[in-house]
Amino acid sequence: MLDTPSNRPKLPAEIARRRTFAIISHPDAGKTTLTEKFLLYGGAIQMAGQVRAKGEARRTRSDFMQMEKDRGISVSASAMSFDFKNFRFNLVDTPGHSDFSEDTYRTLTAVDAAVMVIDGAKGVESQTQKLFEVCRLRDLPILTFCNKMDRESRDTFDIIDEIQENLAIDVTPASWPIGLGRDFMGCYDMLNDRLELMDRADRNKIGESIEIKGLTDPKLDELIPADLLSKLREEVEMARELLPPFDQQALLDGTLTPIWFGSAINSFGVKELMDGIGTYGPEPQIQSAEPRKISPEETKVSGFVFKVQANMDPKHRDRVAFIRLASGHFLRGMKLTHVRSKKPMSITNPVLFLASDRELAEEAWAGDIIGIPNHGQLRIGDTLTEGEAIRVTGIPSFAPELLQSVRSTDPMKGKHLEKALMQFAEEGAAKVFKPAIGSGFIVGVVGALQFEVLASRIELEYGIPVRFEASQFTSARWVSGDRQAVDKFVNVNKQHISYDHDGDTVYLTRLQWDIDRVVRDYPEITLTATKEMM
Ligand code: G4P
Repeated sequence: MLDTPSNRPKLPAEIARRRTFAIISHPDAGKTTLTEKFLLYGGAIQMAGQVRAKGEARRTRSDFMQMEKDRGISVSASAMSFDFKNFRFNLVDTPGHSDFSEDTYRTLTAVDAAVMVIDGAKGVESQTQKLFEVCRLRDLPILTFCNKMDRESRDTFDIIDEIQENLAIDVTPASWPIGLGRDFMGCYDMLNDRLELMDRADRNKIGESIEIKGLTDPKLDELIPADLLSKLREEVEMARELLPPFDQQALLDGTLTPIWFGSAINSFGVKELMDGIGTYGPEPQIQSAEPRKISPEETKVSGFVFKVQANMDPKHRDRVAFIRLASGHFLRGMKLTHVRSKKPMSITNPVLFLASDRELAEEAWAGDIIGIPNHGQLRIGDTLTEGEAIRVTGIPSFAPELLQSVRSTDPMKGKHLEKALMQFAEEGAAKVFKPAIGSGFIVGVVGALQFEVLASRIELEYGIPVRFEASQFTSARWVSGDRQAVDKFVNVNKQHISYDHDGDTVYLTRLQWDIDRVVRDYPEITLTATKEMM
């Protein structure tokens, strides 16, 4: 197996130039603004402000998102592709709210790196910390952008210390701010020995870049007020002594994050960050799979579904499966094998998410994200290949933390409700359990807000009014083991048993004590809180 970088053949240029990443941040830190500037410099949009406008338009298209608008959170994730210099960036949007951690987790299985945005005044906030922990599970390389430097912000060393301490990762400054708050005038680019000066008068103007020869360069005296310059010199000297130097391998290993300081709204520091992602960020990585890993440079195409979005266009009731290509060069019209069902699929209308709009993809390379409209055949965790029976691994399904029973308030619509629920289950928006005894369904989610989103979507997309009610259960565990042992267990515990949308057996309970008892009394079966999606 090709595994270590040293014995891997060189990636084809098209793959090597790809950078597929997500942005993680706490709400309000500036993710939308930064995305907008990325797209602006990527030539994907003409004018800043369009992402927000487009976002709204997209939300009205899938109009259950009225709630999202009201709450100002982003529930739906999407992917955007754009070019910057020689690079092709694929930016996968992560839903920002903590209620959607499972969706976020799966999104992060489709990227090779993450950009962590923090607010210079607030530092590491709760949601950043959570998302960071998810990235750490996969040792994802992280590049940090400290935003809003045009406003009052914390002392630079304090911010760096906080990241190092709270997130237990080494931090190296890629740039160093000159002046803080009202005095902030730009950064010293520590990696390229350049001065970047911000233009406060014009938000869309990219800062001026001035080549210098170290911090003793006499040019600096003309450009920076004496007090700020002496502080800069002092701080950079201290930073070089106290903080780890830049080390690309440590970045790629996920043990060191370079930090850029800037102000997204003022278009400042964004290009340097983009340069950093391109120059130092990872190319498409080897994908874990069974029975063998997949290398991006393999000529045969393979990919996996990390997200399914239903009803993106209510007129067509389509579902789009978001595929991360793991290897090869994909061409439109290709026939791929859907490994789970072993059936061939002709991919005739794949979509590339060019930031301007959904666009037909004529070709795509390992690392790219394509959308495949389908009628429900493609599920999260599915693998597509050119015939080989490989299954991508590492896309888990988590046991829900909240369970409620659901019923239609219109008794005539019970049957339709089942269909709607199954669709949401396949989309990964919720877990749906059909109890072994009795009728009705139990729905499980990770965050309480999801019940509201579901109720609203079921009503809007299927015209079924529903009510969620407290369930007698609070925990769910998947049951596995020897067939006979599972059958015996099921027979004795029928009132606790239900089946998920794949037909897999699930044990529902309200007591940890019950789970402990099962573990003790039934050593031949296993209860798990996650299930590998397949
Ligand atoms: P999010 O997606 O992470 O939630 O953040 P978003 O980009 O929406 O930014 C949150 C707020 O912070 C916005 O203000 C935005 O304009 C502001 N902002 C983003 N970058 C900077 C920056 O570099 N400096 C300063 N001073 N502010 C910044 P808002 O008032 O909530 O929205 P809006 O009316 O400006 O759109």
